[in-house]
Amino acid sequence: GGATIEIPVAVHFMTGNTNDRACLEALAQRQIDVLNADYSASNTDISTWNAIADNYVGLDAPGVANITFCLATSNHPAAVPQLVEGQPAVTIGYNFANGSGFPETDVNFQGYMNFVVKPLNGLLGYSPLGGSVANGAAVVIDPSTFGTGGGCANGIAPSSPYNLGRTTTHELGHFYSLRHTFNGDATQGDPNAVCGSGTGDGIADTPEVASATYGCPSNPTPFACNAPERRLTMNYMDYVNDACMYMFTPGQANQVDAYIAGVLASAFK
Ligand code: ARG
Ligand code: ZN
Ligand code: CA
Repeated sequence: GGATIEIPVAVHFMTGNTNDRACLEALAQRQIDVLNADYSASNTDISTWNAIADNYVGLDAPGVANITFCLATSNHPAAVPQLVEGQPAVTIGYNFANGSGFPETDVNFQGYMNFVVKPLNGLLGYSPLGGSVANGAAVVIDPSTFGTGGGCANGIAPSSPYNLGRTTTHELGHFYSLRHTFNGDATQGDPNAVCGSGTGDGIADTPEVASATYGCPSNPTPFACNAPERRLTMNYMDYVNDACMYMFTPGQANQVDAYIAGVLASAFK
């Protein structure tokens, strides 16, 4: 791959307590640490993959994207009153410019990669498929799935089995154009979907599967649609528990790199 691109991230805790800033900043930093590990295949549990990879056709090496993340410290959209130049770009209780309905974009956050942490009433997180940093788009994460380790006040606390920060890894995958490995089945998770019925994820090295996998399957996993390929349930773009997803494929990492390269090319033309 090419040179590594560093992506500054702003984090917005919509229901946070301003007295809890130190805790929330530390939580945000731990989420950044998870992303840096997961997108470079230097997560500690990549060892689980390395131990079983021989069972997976053509997938010896996991995917490594040429990106790293950091908490932004530049208040370049100076309109955001809560951001202080040189301090982590973490807002607490900020009201989005487009209201409370669907805060995926905000005019004040253009130029940042944004994470919005707000209660989603049962959803773990969501993201646009192919998001635009230039437009101030955001990945939205429920407070029970953001970050890892100890939580903060107001229920902003990672909760098992989604307490390893992998919901953000997954949603960011969507932001960078990755589809679910089971994409195209009738209901995006229909357990009765059949092979050949879906459109797939458009990535050659992720085996075709008809449906999502939940929980934590034992390894090696069952055959996928085309044996001897096996279901890649440990992929970040499936639906298993945080502890049971630990890899991207090279094809996915290449698509992420290509998406980011395209965004940068158009932004600086
Ligand atoms: N259901 C959500 C989505 O489709 C997130 C799934 C994340 N899974 C996890 N183990 N954290 O975008
Ligand atoms: Zn998803
Ligand atoms: Ca595929």
